[in-house]
Amino acid sequence: MVTYQIYVRSFADGDGDGVGDLRGVASHLDDLVTLGVDALWLTPIYASPQEDHGYDVADPRAVDPLFGDLADLDALVSGAHRRGLRLLLDLVPNHTSAAHAWFQAALAAAPGSPERARYLFRDGRGAGGANPPNDWVSLFGGPAWERVRESDGRPGQWYLHLFAPGQPDLDWSNSDVGDDAEATLRFWLDRGVDGFRVDVAHGLVKAEGLPDDDTAARRADATFFPVEGAPMWDQPGVHDIYRRWRSVLDSYDGDRCLVGELWVRDPDRHASYVRPDELHLAFAFPLLEAPLDAGAWRAAITASLAATVAVGSPATWVLGNHDVVRIATRLGGLDAARAATLALLALPGPVFLYQGDELGLPGVTVAPDARQDPIWERSGHTVIGRDGCRVPLPWSGEAPPYGFSTGTPWLPQPGDWGDLTAVAQATDPLSTLVLVRGALAVRRALLGGGLTWREGMPAGVLAFDRPGGGAPVTCVLNTATTAATVDVAGRLVLASTPVRYDGASLALPPRSCVWLSPAG
Ligand code: NOJ
Repeated sequence: MVTYQIYVRSFADGDGDGVGDLRGVASHLDDLVTLGVDALWLTPIYASPQEDHGYDVADPRAVDPLFGDLADLDALVSGAHRRGLRLLLDLVPNHTSAAHAWFQAALAAAPGSPERARYLFRDGRGAGGANPPNDWVSLFGGPAWERVRESDGRPGQWYLHLFAPGQPDLDWSNSDVGDDAEATLRFWLDRGVDGFRVDVAHGLVKAEGLPDDDTAARRADATFFPVEGAPMWDQPGVHDIYRRWRSVLDSYDGDRCLVGELWVRDPDRHASYVRPDELHLAFAFPLLEAPLDAGAWRAAITASLAATVAVGSPATWVLGNHDVVRIATRLGGLDAARAATLALLALPGPVFLYQGDELGLPGVTVAPDARQDPIWERSGHTVIGRDGCRVPLPWSGEAPPYGFSTGTPWLPQPGDWGDLTAVAQATDPLSTLVLVRGALAVRRALLGGGLTWREGMPAGVLAFDRPGGGAPVTCVLNTATTAATVDVAGRLVLASTPVRYDGASLALPPRSCVWLSPAG
């Protein structure tokens, strides 16, 4: 199964306000069928002040007018289903928006009230409670606590926000929180949605007593991966939440699915979230973090496969999303991105493909005054943020807005993307779009199950076999910045870049990948 991630505000704009929306998605469903994906994941479309572009949810059971309305969502679900595409929404259970009715009620209520008990309000430390309750830092920069004013106007309690101050963390030990999440699941499942990507799936439960985080100093800035033992991540109590959700999904017809956004590095701990009665899938992020290096890739793939096989679930592969630098920029150019994407699509198990990676889009350095990601402000302009991978898609034409919108796109698009549009690439046999379409078509014939590594490859080369009924595939990836020659018998099926191959000796340019149909 290949799921295409739609970052809704940047996919296609149906009403000309410069922000992508549900009608925009609906208008391109046929393109997604042509691309050859099986399912779509939509980033949050719920009512939201958009402080973190929808990951700050004011009402999880309403569509934000920015994106359309419930009728648009219903039409999109049925349009997708008619075409054989499944549709996943994004569930944001760790926090709400500060604009959520619960949080507004909590602000108006007194310390110790039931309204406050749905969030993590605490008294401050030190004289007059002037210091935050603990030393936790926000993933978006600065302290993870914000002080409120009580009804008498005086500075009062603090509330926890692991992300922006406009995203207060919920207290999952409060039964209202679990009951409301179940109501949200059922609301969308009843409308025919096929499942959910679960935001921050390792973060919902915090360690008892909210102790100081003595792991903070060991955490690398550039990653969402916490260090093992951090009191706000990967706590044992989180598994019961997923058991409850799993039983809800299992009570529905069809193949409803939960996919965890799980920044847990240890492969066995990670796999514990996809035990048979918990989440169905969880992103294997170590591959996304790995450099394009044969050893690093093999280690990441082997570890994820071993751990998930042990719990009877597939590993879920991903190389890009709306939170990380685009593949083409991260891995050092389009050749590397095409090679990595082709290798990714050869892996056994579900793959998630981020919109625009099928076009090989590079990351963009958005001008400082146009930056929108809250990380930029929260970090005091020291961390550039994630806007560079969120620039609206180029569909057609020679100049912005490239068919994305009839208005002004919410983030500026580069002026030199004319050759990268979906329309331009559709008719270019050497384009990234045509390569990805080809890979998705061949992949359909591959059988499930694992992969078999080929040993004895030259330095920097990774090769593996995938079983495939009538059409097995051998994937050979040269991660090196120098050419490599590999002795392998077969027929050429797909190549990320032109290669020389006589059926026995394969000359691989630097940073390239081929799929062969094995001889015999
Ligand atoms: C992970 C999401 O992918 C990211 O975009 C968001 O900012 C955080 N979770 C907070 O919800």
